[in-house]
Amino acid sequence: MKKIPIRGSEFAVFDEGDGPPLLFVHGFPLDHAMWRDQLAEFAAEYRVIAPDLRGFGSSEVGDVAVTMEQFADDLAAALDALGVTEPVTLIGLSMGGYVAWQFLRKYRRRLRAMVLCDTRAAADSPDAAENRLKSAEAVLAEGTEALARAMVPKLFGKQTIRARPAVVDAVRNVILQANPQGVAAAQRAMAARPDATSMLGAIDVPTLVVVGEDDVISPLEEMRRIAEAIPGSRLVVIPDAGHMSPLENPAAFNAALREFLQRPFKG
Ligand code: MLT
Repeated sequence: MKKIPIRGSEFAVFDEGDGPPLLFVHGFPLDHAMWRDQLAEFAAEYRVIAPDLRGFGSSEVGDVAVTMEQFADDLAAALDALGVTEPVTLIGLSMGGYVAWQFLRKYRRRLRAMVLCDTRAAADSPDAAENRLKSAEAVLAEGTEALARAMVPKLFGKQTIRARPAVVDAVRNVILQANPQGVAAAQRAMAARPDATSMLGAIDVPTLVVVGEDDVISPLEEMRRIAEAIPGSRLVVIPDAGHMSPLENPAAFNAALREFLQRPFKG
């Protein structure tokens, strides 16, 4: 991992390989390691860049207000620090997708294409936002154990829970080790995130939409509506996977990503 200073805090970024840059943006409350199967495969032909977002993994939370826009600003600053001037393909999962909407809004010229995985365009309902604020308080008071208990069963499809306990345990451990300050800041930031639905029809970068068939957090029907609203985009459904589709079925996920990278369809 490279260490990069951004606005007074230290950021950890995985950066390997040569070729067109791929920027992988992880979900909540995880870190770059959720992309391990993509980093291992695509580093042979692409420059694969996978940061730990502010407050996650080995990146410090710092003292700026955390928002989805701030995460996008951090990504742009990280690309600057790494000397990446070529437009990137941004691959974001769930919260990484919420960050992608903001990156698109502010840094359109830095994007070659987008891959939106298991994410949502809608903002939180008032109830969902209130639950997040409560969860942020609980994490600050008691740590991430209850969050791990609540989230892990929703992150994975039935097949993964039955047949791949090591994958489930690895994700649980990342949540248990997550920094409560970073987790709480991101919960509050997601509760306040803007609705991106009205942006979809104007998206003019090639976009692939990917969802695990058993995703209960960003369900297939919701992802289908996102794909239908984005001009020229395509939806790929990953079998035997829930919300963590790149980790749960890396062969199918990587095949879909590879095909898109070779022939991105223009919206
Ligand atoms: C994620 O995977 O990033 C989370 O499920 C996002 C969320 O809590 O909305």
